[in-house]
Formats: sequence, C-alpha cells, structure tokens
Amino acid sequence: NIKACIFDLDGVIVDTAKYHYLAWKRLANELGFDFTEKDNEKLKGVSRMESLEILLNLGNIKVDEETKLKLAEKKNNWYRELISKMDESEILPRVKEFINELKNSNIKVAIGSSSKNTMTILNSIKMTDFFDAIIDGNKITKAKPDPEVFLLGAEALGVNPNECVVFEDAESGIKAAKNAGMYAVGIGSKEILKEADKVIPNTNSLTLDIINF
Ligand code: G6P
Ligand code: MG
Repeated sequence: NIKACIFDLDGVIVDTAKYHYLAWKRLANELGFDFTEKDNEKLKGVSRMESLEILLNLGNIKVDEETKLKLAEKKNNWYRELISKMDESEILPRVKEFINELKNSNIKVAIGSSSKNTMTILNSIKMTDFFDAIIDGNKITKAKPDPEVFLLGAEALGVNPNECVVFEDAESGIKAAKNAGMYAVGIGSKEILKEADKVIPNTNSLTLDIINF
C-alpha cells in the first residue's frame, strides 16, 4: 500500500536534462572531443564530479584535481546560464496535475535529486511549495545508484521504503530506487530503463493507476 511518491527533478519534473547535456557537450568540444546523446545517458542522475570523471574518461583526458574543479565549475556556470531563463512553461506535461491528484489521494510527495541546483530550479518554476520534502545534492554524500537520496526522502516523509514509488528518467536513478527497496517507475526508453518495475514513455502517461498496482 503506497503512501508516498518521490520524484527525480532533472528530466522528470522539468526537462533540464537537455541543458545538462548541452553544457557537458560544450565542455567536451572545448577539450577537443565529441560527446553524443548516447554518451550522456551515463551521466544522468550522477553527481557533477562523477559526471566529469566519466566525460574525461571518454575523451581520454588526464588532469589534476585542481583542474577538475575548474572544469566542473565552468560546466556549472554554462548550465546555470541555460537554466536562468527558465519559468513555469518548462514544467513537463501533466506533472502538476498528477502531483495534485496524489495530494488529493493523501499520498505524500518529495523530490529526490542529485543536483545542487535543485532549489534554484524549483524556485524558477514556482514549485517549491508543492513538495512535503526536498532532498537534493547538498544533502547527500553518495550519488545514485546509491539509495541514500531516496532513503532520506522516505525518512523525511515518515514512511517505509516499501511504501514509496520513485519516478526516474535515469538508469542510475532506477538502480538507486531498487537499491532502496522501492517501486521504480521509469520515464523514457524501455531499453535504457530496463530495471524499472514499470516504464512509461513520457510524463503524459502519469496517472493514478500507476501507483494502484
Ligand atoms: C542530476 C542530473 C545530472 C547532474 C546531477 C548534478 O542528477 O540528472 O545530470 O549531473 O544532477 O547536478 P548539479 O546541478 O549539481 O551539477
Ligand atoms: Mg533525471
């Protein structure tokens, strides 16, 4: 019996996944190699520094720790520039309606994101007040696929992990949800999100029967 839903942010509530991709691609190109959308799948849900490690590996580039921090900051500045103009119009279809339906059914809702930019984004799309709990990249020590972010979400909501449904667009996020002992709903491609308990193609398919299984 489901008592709470935990939502990933980037690529689930709002399509910031495309902005992360553009900023990483710009960094890769500046470092002299190409970065495709397929490469980008591995970065989704992963923390900023771990994403950078994956990207540098792809380009066969070795740099010292200080340079890594500078590169990550550079990417984040480009990313923040891209999200600075964001408003409510970028909330993905049916997301707000679905969350309201959940609330009317007495289901608690939380955000579980690896992003340190979570509050900036939620404030720009005016959704901060929608959530009973917000666990973001500043509150966790281990990124997805570690279950920490979702376990902290369940704890903040006062529910057990097996009473939670997670909504995720990333392979690492589905793994994190399963590692937390939660029901995982993937939003996107079935091939990529194969470990999910259920996959829907996009947010238009968010309906209450998903959690009434
Ligand atoms: C989310 C995104 C990742 C991103 C990570 C860290 O999980 O899916 O693509 O790298 O957050 O985001 P940040 O905004 O802190 O760099
Ligand atoms: Mg995501």
